[in-house]
Amino acid sequence: MARQLENRKIVIAGGTSGIGLALAAILVQDKALVTVIGRDPAKIEKLKIDFPGINAIGLDARDRSALDDLFRKEKEIDHLVVALSGGKGGGMFKTLSLSDLREGFESKFWPHVNVLQAALPYMRPTGSITLITAISATAKLPGTAGLAAINGALELMVPILSGELAPLRINAVSPGIIDTPWWDFLPEAVKEQTFSEFALKVAAGRVGRPEEVADTIRFLLTTEYINGVIVGCHGGLK
Ligand SMILES: NC(=O)c1ccc[n+]([C@@H]2O[C@H](COP(=O)([O-])OP(=O)(O)OC[C@H]3O[C@@H](n4cnc5c(N)ncnc54)[C@H](OP(=O)(O)O)[C@@H]3O)[C@@H](O)[C@H]2O)c1
Repeated sequence: MARQLENRKIVIAGGTSGIGLALAAILVQDKALVTVIGRDPAKIEKLKIDFPGINAIGLDARDRSALDDLFRKEKEIDHLVVALSGGKGGGMFKTLSLSDLREGFESKFWPHVNVLQAALPYMRPTGSITLITAISATAKLPGTAGLAAINGALELMVPILSGELAPLRINAVSPGIIDTPWWDFLPEAVKEQTFSEFALKVAAGRVGRPEEVADTIRFLLTTEYINGVIVGCHGGLK
């Protein structure tokens, strides 16, 4: 299986942290040619030291012309993974700030579709695209209507695009709660408490690790008969 990805050109938008970074680390072992996109210069510098073989690009995925320039240079991409994180948009709908919800779309939905459309002219038809959505799209949990709208909008596009883009494949991975730096906005004790509460809601009895989602993404890259689907990675949400 490892040789399936050897010398394959793989771009991970949102590959400098969390799930995207865990995937980049796995793909380096596969001897793939990995390019990651992120914004924070400190994360990019650290990644260049930790993984000198990875091409790390500092770019804001909301900037379409910067993306067009990047993909024009990259050319002939085998696999594209979009793991850009959002943030805002959670909360009970009655009191949900609509400007937060709009910001949630601006920081996740639009960057995802921006990257996707900018990359398309340069994707090899034998390759694949994987979007990273979120279990909030389908979990029906109170306080997640806004997050469901953002991630559900992306998920609804996937089966349609699998027909439009064929033979290029497109899928999504929908993670549950995963212990990544995304949660670092919470004080450590609050984060631990949040993770413990979520652990009670999943059959696995714990939150997930970024490597587990990365393994799921890798499975989609290498399994050519999976197309147009959303694959959950959430430890069995009850
Ligand atoms: N962690 C969870 O519990 C969880 C649960 C469900 C779904 N997800 C989804 O999984 C995906 C990955 O999340 P994560 O937890 O790995 O998040 P993370 O650790 O915050 O990593 C997000 C990555 O996206 C990059 N990024 C975000 N916005 C960007 C932009 N506009 N332009 C360029 N790069 C940008 C970040 O780089 P910078 O830091 O430099 O901006 C970073 O590399 C996201 O789509 C998230 O919604 C996560």
